[in-house]
Formats: sequence, structure tokens, C-alpha cells
Amino acid sequence: MQDRLRLFFALWPDEAARRQLEALGAAMRKACGGRPTRPENLHLTLVFLGEVEAARLAEVKSAGDAVRVPPFELRFREPGYWFHNRIAWVAPADPPRALFDLVAGLQDALVVHGFPREERPYVPHLTLLRHARCTGGEWPRVDIAWPVREFTLVSSRLSEDGAAYERLLSWPLAGQ
Ligand code: 2AM
Repeated sequence: MQDRLRLFFALWPDEAARRQLEALGAAMRKACGGRPTRPENLHLTLVFLGEVEAARLAEVKSAGDAVRVPPFELRFREPGYWFHNRIAWVAPADPPRALFDLVAGLQDALVVHGFPREERPYVPHLTLLRHARCTGGEWPRVDIAWPVREFTLVSSRLSEDGAAYERLLSWPLAGQ
């Protein structure tokens, strides 16, 4: 086992949403170039922890255990592009409060376990392309429904051909 793990909490799409996200990424790539996220890696980050000592994994798991949020649905309708980091993404339209409750619940529980609080506001987005150069124009019109039933703790290993993610543990969304 490694001494340090690069960890984040995320949502993983079901098969139907994943296929539509993959198709959207391919359509955007025609306009923007760039490197598409591998289909199996498509995810919505909730909280990025960064490098954590492997010995603290139990504390991270306790933070996941502490969160109680009911199931909800996301509708991805808003493709976009950030010039500053050359990421093409799609975002959920009018995300339900439960998404923000889930993120805040995880952040609060992580702070209780001694992890630093994320100071940046949470901006939900799903990365479709990296190193993209989008020059404006029309995005494809999409409406991708994503029923959220669980959240996941993920370990990321970076290598030359992108990130390899390992899903370590998932928690069902379970009501209040
Ligand atoms: P991104 O897709 O916008 O890069 C794993 O790296 C996940 O954590 C990605 O979804 C990434 O978002 C997100 N993330 C959030 N903050 C990050 C940071 N400081 N460094 C790397 N990834 C970060």
C-alpha cells in the first residue's frame, strides 16, 4: 500500500448518463480538440482532498459515514469552457439543494477529522476535455438525466496517459 493517496469524493454516472456524457464530449471535441476524459473516468467531484497519508484513510471513511442526504437527480444541460485551465465541461442546471448539502456535509465532517476546510466555493462541473481550445460558437443542446443514488471515495494515480481512478468505497444516499 502507498504511504500517501490522492483522494476525492465524487459521483459516478450510471450507464445511460455515462453514454450521453461520452457522446457530448465527442461532439465538443470536434469544436475544441483536446483530450477527452476516458469514459470510465467520467465523474462529478464533490470534495477534492489531495494527498492524504494512507494511515488517515479511516478518518476519511468516517467523514463519509457521517453524511445523510436523500437521493436526488441531476440534469446536465449546460456545456461550457474555461479559458484559464482549458477545460471543457458540462454542469448540472439548477442543481438541487441535496447536492450542496452532500458537499457541505462532507466538508464539515472532514473538518471534524482535522482536514483543512476547502475555501473555494463549490462549482459543480464534469470535465469532458482537457487541453481544449474552444473558440466560441454553439454548444450541442443536451439534457442528460443522472439519478444520484450513492457517492464514492476515489483514489487517483496520475501518469503520463492521464489519471487512473480506483473507487475505494461507496455510500448509498439514505434519507435524513
Ligand atoms: P477538474 O476535473 O476540474 O480538474 C480529480 O482530480 C478530480 O478532483 C477532478 O474532477 C478535478 O477537477 C477535481 N479537483 C478539484 N480540485 C482539484 C485540485 N486542486 N487539483 C486536482 N484536481 C482537483
